[in-house]
Amino acid sequence: MEVELTEAQIEQLEKQNKRMVSNFEASKLEREAKKHWDKFYMRNTTNFFKDRHWTEREFPELASENLTIIELGCGVGNFIFPILEANKSASGFSCDFSPRAVDFVKNRAKDEGLEGRLLTFTADLTLNDWLKNVTEKPRSSSSSPQFTLTST
Ligand SMILES: C[S@@+](CC[C@H](N)C(=O)[O-])C[C@H]1O[C@@H](n2cnc3c(N)ncnc32)[C@H](O)[C@@H]1O
Repeated sequence: MEVELTEAQIEQLEKQNKRMVSNFEASKLEREAKKHWDKFYMRNTTNFFKDRHWTEREFPELASENLTIIELGCGVGNFIFPILEANKSASGFSCDFSPRAVDFVKNRAKDEGLEGRLLTFTADLTLNDWLKNVTEKPRSSSSSPQFTLTST
């Protein structure tokens, strides 16, 4: 379907394009993403994102018995902790490339007695080796795991 843009929309698009970063800046930001996210968690600690308590309502499959969930780009755990709290038979893996974020998740898991159900590790998803951390089960007994991926 072809859409005719109005003069105002064309003007708006041209204005936006002027604000685009150069290829050089874009690849620098890409290369330094890990450093920037880690600084983000240094500044905001656990106060920026809020726990998401609506995910179990949106995705009823998250209530499955013995669910194993993996969160890629977990930040400080605002997605995975509410799921582990709501589904007592669930366990999971979570990773992020920000070491600070991973420390926050590990500390919270310890404080909430969830260490046996959540294995958290540092990994850059653009590299190929992160999956090796998911071979170990976060707990000793679990039947056929169901993996749920969340996007970063
Ligand atoms: C918008 S935050 C979302 C955090 C979390 N998923 C949540 O729902 O609260 C995106 C997260 O993805 C992480 N991230 C971005 N690119 C990544 C990569 N290549 N490898 C690992 N983590 C990444 C960032 O460090 C950040 O914590």
